[in-house]
Amino acid sequence: MQFKSMILANAEVSPGYWRMRMTAPPEFAAAQPGQFVMVRVNSAIDPLLRRPFGIFDVGTYVPAHSGAQPQPYLEMLYRVVGKGTAMLSELHETDLLDILGPLGKGFDLGPLEEEKLIVGGGVGLAPLYLLAKELVRQSRVRLFAGGRTRDDILCITEFERLGVECYVATEDGSLGERGLVTEALEKRLDLDAGNASIFACGPHGMLNAVAAIAARRALSCQVSLEGYMACGMGACLGCVTPGHHHSPETPDYRCVCTDGPVFDSVDLKWGA
Ligand SMILES: Cc1cc2nc3c(=O)[nH]c(=O)nc-3n(C[C@H](O)[C@H](O)[C@H](O)COP(=O)(O)OP(=O)(O)OC[C@H]3O[C@@H](n4cnc5c(N)ncnc54)[C@H](O)[C@@H]3O)c2cc1C
Ligand code: FES
Repeated sequence: MQFKSMILANAEVSPGYWRMRMTAPPEFAAAQPGQFVMVRVNSAIDPLLRRPFGIFDVGTYVPAHSGAQPQPYLEMLYRVVGKGTAMLSELHETDLLDILGPLGKGFDLGPLEEEKLIVGGGVGLAPLYLLAKELVRQSRVRLFAGGRTRDDILCITEFERLGVECYVATEDGSLGERGLVTEALEKRLDLDAGNASIFACGPHGMLNAVAAIAARRALSCQVSLEGYMACGMGACLGCVTPGHHHSPETPDYRCVCTDGPVFDSVDLKWGA
């Protein structure tokens, strides 16, 4: 679905990271955790391509004027890395955006009795909040959030408010344990190797390590990829990633925008 959305709020939540709330059509209430939107950051020719962002949250708000009915909103959490995201950060309340979505295949919530372990690296937490909101209804949920410094640890209070037990790891030790988030995950799994499933989003190296941990322990693991995307709808093949059986002789590519962005980790080819 393509729609015009009005910005309701756009605020820097940590240096270089922004959270934007905007109006959404009623159909957005059915958006699946892990789905994404393609955003046209302005109406000029440059930048021409829409930018993909995970859906951080969906909900309803009541507009200020009297007698108003609750209206749907959607939220994104984004990091300023280049031209498009810098432009987004300069937008204000009441500015309009052109949006396509919700797109792609989201997370499968899995068996309710399993403990759910969510692993997010930096802005990789973006699609994991809506997931946690769904999972806490029925399952015990733990979050492992990692980053280089404390500035990369985002919106932890919101996860805690949901009742999620949060573990933080930073590479410089400025917040939580010093080290990699995957080390914190392994420590937890060493303590209790019971029935658990893993959901992860973050830098490719982190996902590679999480997929390896899951494989070693025979745990189910879903990963959300954040590669490059031009169309977001399966038309340009700019987003493909190698599938599990890929080799130069027998190419096996997955389209991140339509087959994903969420994949079962065993369906993808990972580094050694
Ligand atoms: C399905 C999906 C969901 C995403 N969700 C989020 C989200 O919720 N929050 C968020 O902040 N970002 C998210 N991203 C990444 C986001 O789309 C890019 O950061 C954004 O498009 C960059 O646009 P830009 O114009 O600012 O940067 P550009 O000017 O296009 O690029 C600036 C620099 O960033 C690098 N870069 C751009 N895109 C990516 C990328 N996808 N991966 C790695 N490096 C990149 C470029 O190589 C360049 O060095 C997501 C990507 C995908 C595919
Ligand atoms: S972004 Fe065009 S096919 Fe996926």
